[in-house]
Amino acid sequence: MKGSTKNRGQFPYTRMRRNRKSSSIRKLVQESTLKITDLIQPVFVIDGNNKTESITSMPGINRCSPDQLLNEAQELYNLGIQAIAIFPVIKKEKKSLNAEESFNKNGLVQNTIKLLKRNIPELTLITDVALDPYTTHGHDGILNQKNIIDNDLTNETLVKQALSHAVAGADIIAPSDMMDGRILRIREKLESHNFHDTIIMSYASKYASNYYGPFRDAIGSSDGEKIDKSTYQIDIHNTDEAISECELDLQEGADILLIKPGMPYLDIITAVKQTFGVPTFAYQVSGEYSMHCLAFEKGLLERDSTLLESLIAFKRAGADAILTYFAKEAAILLNG
Ligand code: PBG
Repeated sequence: MKGSTKNRGQFPYTRMRRNRKSSSIRKLVQESTLKITDLIQPVFVIDGNNKTESITSMPGINRCSPDQLLNEAQELYNLGIQAIAIFPVIKKEKKSLNAEESFNKNGLVQNTIKLLKRNIPELTLITDVALDPYTTHGHDGILNQKNIIDNDLTNETLVKQALSHAVAGADIIAPSDMMDGRILRIREKLESHNFHDTIIMSYASKYASNYYGPFRDAIGSSDGEKIDKSTYQIDIHNTDEAISECELDLQEGADILLIKPGMPYLDIITAVKQTFGVPTFAYQVSGEYSMHCLAFEKGLLERDSTLLESLIAFKRAGADAILTYFAKEAAILLNG
């Protein structure tokens, strides 16, 4: 026990319930706080105009065309949310083995960034750097002749993708692919093109998790099939490996570390925050979101207080900000 004194811990000198006796004392001794400015809303964008599609696997979440997304982004910003993370749904005919569409300067993501930046310049835009929406097989990298993801070849495309996002006006580039060395390559490219202030948020500790299922359905990267990403995402049994990933990404130039998934990996968030003391974000992923929604629909859990509790857990664990599909709803609740 920190700062232990003689009678501390002895009943009745210590009664833990004293500091819980009223709402005001509970607020005074409260350690962590969930703020609207901690929340980042992931959004799905599709080609077209005036289009909004619901996502079966993620109740309440939509895929929107850029014009509709602009309205949504404005609403989020008005609620006090500072950042959104953009994920594209790429048409089948634009997918390929080498994912060339990923760095098209007039691609869906690039054009969406331009539209949002023109209209809401203050909203921070985070873009996903990874090839899974663009490859025919749904992997985050390019396959070699032996059908293995080729790390260094993939990096060459990731660098082009990252630069195209920076040119379009992205504030934060977020590589979520888990290739080795990509942070260094991306940083070098950004520096050489004078994007000194473009932030890199590395998905440094991304586990080969089962909780991404609904997302893969949302962006149409899986065709309903389970994709095994265990040769590049972290083994779910390991902690040291996650710490090493974070250390390497920091050495390579990452500005922010991201841990993913969220709730089943709170131990990793705490370890990373305590080890490095740098901005550490968490991603409450699609599976975590959908699980909650099903429990709410069935009346098993009370919606508002439970979703807030799930987010407060991240703050307690040490996360600075949280990517969550509940961001908008939580912001409305926190605004009271
Ligand atoms: C892939 C990517 C994934 C998510 C974000 N970026 C899925 C994956 O690794 O297959 C998952 C997000 C979620 O489940 O909400 N680059």
